[in-house]
Amino acid sequence: MSKLLVTGGAGFIGSNFIHYWLRTHPGDQVVNLDALTYAGHLESLKDIEGNPNYTFIKGDITDAADVEKAMAGVDMVVNFAAESHVDRSIMDPSPFINTNVMGTGVLLATALKHEVKRFHHISTDETYGQLGLNDPPFTENTPYRPRSPYAASKAASDLLVISYYRTYKLPITITNCGNNFGPYQDPEKLIPRFITNLLEGQKVPLMGQGENIRDWIFVLDDCSSIETVLLHGQVGETYCIGGDQQRNIEVTRKILKALGKDESWIERVADRLGHDFRYALDDTKLQNLGWKPEFNFDQGLDETIKWYKENEWWWRPLKQGRPNVDASAQKSYGQ
Ligand SMILES: NC(=O)c1ccc[n+]([C@@H]2O[C@H](COP(=O)([O-])OP(=O)(O)OC[C@H]3O[C@@H](n4cnc5c(N)ncnc54)[C@H](O)[C@@H]3O)[C@@H](O)[C@H]2O)c1
Repeated sequence: MSKLLVTGGAGFIGSNFIHYWLRTHPGDQVVNLDALTYAGHLESLKDIEGNPNYTFIKGDITDAADVEKAMAGVDMVVNFAAESHVDRSIMDPSPFINTNVMGTGVLLATALKHEVKRFHHISTDETYGQLGLNDPPFTENTPYRPRSPYAASKAASDLLVISYYRTYKLPITITNCGNNFGPYQDPEKLIPRFITNLLEGQKVPLMGQGENIRDWIFVLDDCSSIETVLLHGQVGETYCIGGDQQRNIEVTRKILKALGKDESWIERVADRLGHDFRYALDDTKLQNLGWKPEFNFDQGLDETIKWYKENEWWWRPLKQGRPNVDASAQKSYGQ
């Protein structure tokens, strides 16, 4: 029996991970430390509120007292807490530096003091920069070349995590993954935004020509890959989590088709500043631990569309009254 501290567990991937872990490890205790920023939704965890193995603590990872309280008796830390939206980081990098870098620093210092058995840090493919159409995918050995304040803050936090292993022997692991999609994703991000717009009878805002390519992973596959690294990964190592590469225009067409709409429902909008062209990840190292994804992109998309159709109670309040983020005179379209 283990006790896990999940930070940012009221967010998209964190809430999916908590559901996943309690389902697959029913004897374990999970503590969720989350500051409930605009991106944190306790509604995502409503069904497990009464589970005796689950505890929620409202607190900030930059606050040493909050983290100290949450770390008591913890065996493993899984750090999802972050500012995660690239467009918001272009508008104002400071909360990204604060939470992603300083917050990770507080977590690491406290984890070391409490002698946790594993500190697992969730990172992104965006730390590696961008790829051209024919470049080979990123691997764990690709140098970090972040291009947005978001990606730079994640890269800085990863380096801090690695330094705690090299300097203090804190048993760390890191996973770098591509774009997740699935249930409980905030409708500010591309896939849920497009699905919910169409369900509300609105057009979908596609940046530029939609030629940008992303590596997509269904969120449950990300959860199982994190589990694989926690259980079988080697301490001190980073693992890339690969998915299915898709152009944004292809993703858009698939969503339109699934919801019975034609391309007149696309609204072309200005491109993001410094928009990375392509990400792709080689996950051979992870697959060598025995992990395999269960869902390809199309299967994951079907599941996701079904979930948003059936769970309007979850996403409708999030879209009401929320102003669009405006990055340098552009709005936020979540791509
Ligand atoms: N979503 C993706 O496609 C994706 C891809 C690669 C990596 N990641 C990484 O995965 C992690 C989770 O991403 P997500 O999409 O679930 O994010 P999210 O924005 O949906 O959720 C972030 C959560 O962190 C909480 N949080 C923010 N600042 C905090 C603070 N100072 N203290 C405590 N809690 C705080 C928020 O309230 C929210 O619940 C992040 O580290 C992100 O960088 C995400």
